[in-house]
Amino acid sequence: MKKIGFLGCGKIGQALLAHIKEEGYGEIVFIEDPFAELPGEPVIREPLESAYEKAELIVECANADVLKKHLELILKYGDLLMFSVTAFSDLEFSTLADELCRKYGRHIYLPHGAILGLDGIFDGRRVWKEVVIETTKSPKSLGREDKERTVVYEGPTRQACVLYPRNVNVHAAIALAGMGFDKTCSKIISDPAVETNAHTICLKGEGIDITMNISSYANGAVTGVYTPHSACGSLDRICKEDAGTLFV
Ligand SMILES: NC(=O)c1ccc[n+]([C@@H]2O[C@H](COP(=O)([O-])OP(=O)(O)OC[C@H]3O[C@@H](n4cnc5c(N)ncnc54)[C@H](O)[C@@H]3O)[C@@H](O)[C@H]2O)c1
Repeated sequence: MKKIGFLGCGKIGQALLAHIKEEGYGEIVFIEDPFAELPGEPVIREPLESAYEKAELIVECANADVLKKHLELILKYGDLLMFSVTAFSDLEFSTLADELCRKYGRHIYLPHGAILGLDGIFDGRRVWKEVVIETTKSPKSLGREDKERTVVYEGPTRQACVLYPRNVNVHAAIALAGMGFDKTCSKIISDPAVETNAHTICLKGEGIDITMNISSYANGAVTGVYTPHSACGSLDRICKEDAGTLFV
């Protein structure tokens, strides 16, 4: 049984928690969340080293700022599955993450989250000449009050992550897998007519032209309906040791 700790346990965290119990492959050793009401669970309200030292895998589903503050404590004791991928747009964070993984011999797992195909984007990283991602969300999801369709950002992904850290985790993941935060182009659109989080990803290289459209009902939330399912699949691939057929 994998010993699993949670940093943040809202929409994604609670879906994973229920899934772990259903599958029975993990023991929850702590859930750090100052606000979540989870009766019967080992909830802690602040970072306690005595809790982290019990974990082999820590699942972060809080936000990028919280993750940054906990990074060394996490990697000192376990591997990290992180959903707040925009943290990687901060050079200080990405350098420290590399250093700490080497120092403690840890892995950081980057889930495909709200989109598909990060493995394929990574596989083509030497050939991409242009990677563009366009996201359309409701103003509520973006924390805005636009009354009409508005392009709120267009430019390098690094700055998109600074402006909308909770909304462009998929941009950060694509940048990490493909051409990096400064060469990947992000476009963010706020549209009061939509209830979905929709992403169009275009990748071009010598003789390759790929377009993916992914849309997930969100009703104003930062996380759409697909992500909790994808999160459970990512956790399965990390934790399950079943023999048999695997998607790779
Ligand atoms: N990678 C992706 O594709 C993807 C997709 C959707 C969401 N996300 C990101 O995943 C993260 C979680 O999303 P969610 O929908 O579950 O969010 P959520 O708001 O439902 O849950 C966040 C949880 O973090 C907790 N929290 C707040 N401050 C904390 C602190 N100091 N310490 C510990 N916990 C704290 C909150 O109480 C809450 O329970 C967000 O950063 C979101 O942007 C990533």
